[in-house]
Amino acid sequence: MKIAIIIGTRPEIIKMAPVIDEIEKRGIEYILIHTGQHYDHEMSHQFFIDLELKKPDFNIGVGSGSHGKQTATMMEKIEDVLVAEKPDIVLVQGDTNAVLAGALAASKLHIAVGHVEAGLRSYDKTMPEEINRQVADVTSNLYFVPTEESALNLIFEGLDPHEIFVTGNTVVDACIRNLKIAQKSSTVLSDIDVQGDILTLTMHRAENVDDPKRLQEVMDALLELENINVVFPVHPRTVKTLKKFGIYEKLENAPHVLMTKPIGYLDFLVLLSNSRFIMTDSGGLQEEAITLNVPCLTLRYNTERPETVTAGGNILVGSSKDKILENLRRIAGDESAYQEMSDAANPYGDGKASEKILNAILDASSSGKLQITA
Ligand code: UD1
Ligand code: UDP
Repeated sequence: MKIAIIIGTRPEIIKMAPVIDEIEKRGIEYILIHTGQHYDHEMSHQFFIDLELKKPDFNIGVGSGSHGKQTATMMEKIEDVLVAEKPDIVLVQGDTNAVLAGALAASKLHIAVGHVEAGLRSYDKTMPEEINRQVADVTSNLYFVPTEESALNLIFEGLDPHEIFVTGNTVVDACIRNLKIAQKSSTVLSDIDVQGDILTLTMHRAENVDDPKRLQEVMDALLELENINVVFPVHPRTVKTLKKFGIYEKLENAPHVLMTKPIGYLDFLVLLSNSRFIMTDSGGLQEEAITLNVPCLTLRYNTERPETVTAGGNILVGSSKDKILENLRRIAGDESAYQEMSDAANPYGDGKASEKILNAILDASSSGKLQITA
């Protein structure tokens, strides 16, 4: 049994790490393929250090580029590796271009594809991630879905329920495993040295940060916040557009806003768990917020993680300044509303997702289901 794991961006490294740990624990042979979509030290290598991952066996160095160019280059190079290495199954995670390229390349070589975090749907086809996850789910063979709701999405699309495994999300495994380690080693709170409540902000979605109006409106809301410190580790995509639209300097000069480079995972977990609020357009942060019992405001008009909203831990505020301020002030001023959000039940499982994923792969292997036939 040989598993090929494809990763390319920050969230894939973090969410695949528990799966890799489980593979190593069971002594299964595996190769690690990094597409190189994220390449800055703080967007990639830092997580290999924090999560004690082996160096990738292959780094195909795709770098930044248009969707077509990035996906095509990844497909071509992943295909070369798969032809040479002949794995029994390829694992992809989430909804990035690496998932699309990896799932397409492997399925056309008749290699089984396991999609970790399958079945999420926003049904918003203006988002590249929605296209990636829908296409990956057409070509995959084993679906590791975080919740029953995501299983139903796939069943409604006509997929075979026998190929769908409700495992929880590996982000919970990663959170549980690493928070304790992080609390012992991290000095992030003294490093940032802010007094009082913290709101941690991240923002990188193309539809938000590449749109000057939306970006400006969210930043205007930030500038009007009172009685809270905003800690904003800025994604490289966002640094670029904040500078391009002339907003960066204004934020830098705001005394209650601390902008930093992207933060390593261990430090970031400590920062999140000590935050009073999380405000984000990230997928992973919506999940981590409810896992760490921190109320979340999501800077989007829809989410493929609706479980967080129905559970009561997440509010969609879009990019509307008024909605952001109104919701923050309301929750901050009402302790029982705040507590209700913090106490929302985590829909993403008990931290054993990677164990369940490996059990399902081994079962499929022993019953011949990894052989792709007509
Ligand atoms: C990608 C994923 C997105 C995911 C996010 C996680 C796709 C379509 N998008 O978005 O789903 O949520 O990663 O963070 O796959 N850049 C750097 N250094 C880096 C990486 C990027 O400077 O190490 C800059 C480049 O200017 C690049 C821009 O960020 O053009 C965007 O990077 P890209 O990988 O295309 O998309 P993300 O916004 O990171
Ligand atoms: N993250 C981090 N440092 C940061 C920002 C995010 O370690 O400065 C982690 C975060 O804990 C989460 C993941 O990166 O696990 C989310 O990545 P991102 O928001 O880039 O992508 P998405 O989840 O939206 O695809």
